[in-house]
Amino acid sequence: MAARLSLGDVSLHFGGVMVLEDVTFDVEPGVILGLVGPNGAGKTSLFNCISGHYKPSGGSVTIDGIEVVGTAPSSLARHGLARTFQHPALQLDATVLQNVLLGGHTRLPGGPVSWSLRLPHTRRAEREIRAEALGLLRREQLEWAAGRPAEELSHGLHKGIELCRALLAKPALLLLDEPAAGLSHGEVEQLIDTIRRVRAEEDITIVVVEHHMGLISALTDRVVVLDHGRKLMEGTAAQAQSDPRVIEAYLGKDAVDDAA
Ligand SMILES: Nc1ncnc2c1ncn2[C@@H]1O[C@H](COP(=O)(O)OP(=O)(O)OP(=O)(O)O)[C@@H](O)[C@H]1O
Ligand SMILES: [Mg+2]
Repeated sequence: MAARLSLGDVSLHFGGVMVLEDVTFDVEPGVILGLVGPNGAGKTSLFNCISGHYKPSGGSVTIDGIEVVGTAPSSLARHGLARTFQHPALQLDATVLQNVLLGGHTRLPGGPVSWSLRLPHTRRAEREIRAEALGLLRREQLEWAAGRPAEELSHGLHKGIELCRALLAKPALLLLDEPAAGLSHGEVEQLIDTIRRVRAEEDITIVVVEHHMGLISALTDRVVVLDHGRKLMEGTAAQAQSDPRVIEAYLGKDAVDDAA
């Protein structure tokens, strides 16, 4: 079941520095929401507050109505949250397939004891998850790399591997942090196709941080614009791109005056 994400007055300070201030918005189940804003606006920090990597200084984050502030990232993964990172976080000495399989361990039945006993139902589940992992890699045209150490692959391919790892968890809520960064034009088109297909085939809610406005326009139902840690506006991608406050945040006040 796709998850509902609600943020209420989320604030984050590091020492005296304000990174997020009173950020409030909802993401309804099944929606693709774009989270955009200039460099340093607080997008990654907000993801970290949702995924349990940062504890907000104030406010609430709920997933399907359950407060998750203070919950460890590993527990959130078991409750349907998966994410990718702006700078892919892979086990570089492990193979591509082993990296993807890390996303599937939350789906194994039982716990560490039954896993170590390698009971028949554990082995059956492992085989199914492995087949799914290979299927995801095939869809990304990465199956050839399954047995290669991740460190042999390029940055662009690391992004694809991380996406496969996140999808293998069958998340109800998926957070993607700049999935198109560093990709070629063709790779971005393929990524857009993949995300469209995921949305069509899975019951999933997606929040995507991206500077690539083509991807944001192509995929999102709605965007939230952050600037200096605050929500600047919320609307469609087209509304955001023509909003003077957003143009000013990206390009400075002169750009708005020139456009007027
Ligand atoms: N762990 C931290 N300690 C101190 N400051 C931090 C920390 N994490 C983030 N910040 C600060 O918070 C602000 C927002 O950073 P963040 O990475 O969230 O921005 P962003 O919107 O993701 O930017 P970009 O588009 O460049 O990725 C920056 O000023 C950053 O230096
Ligand atoms: Mg960021």
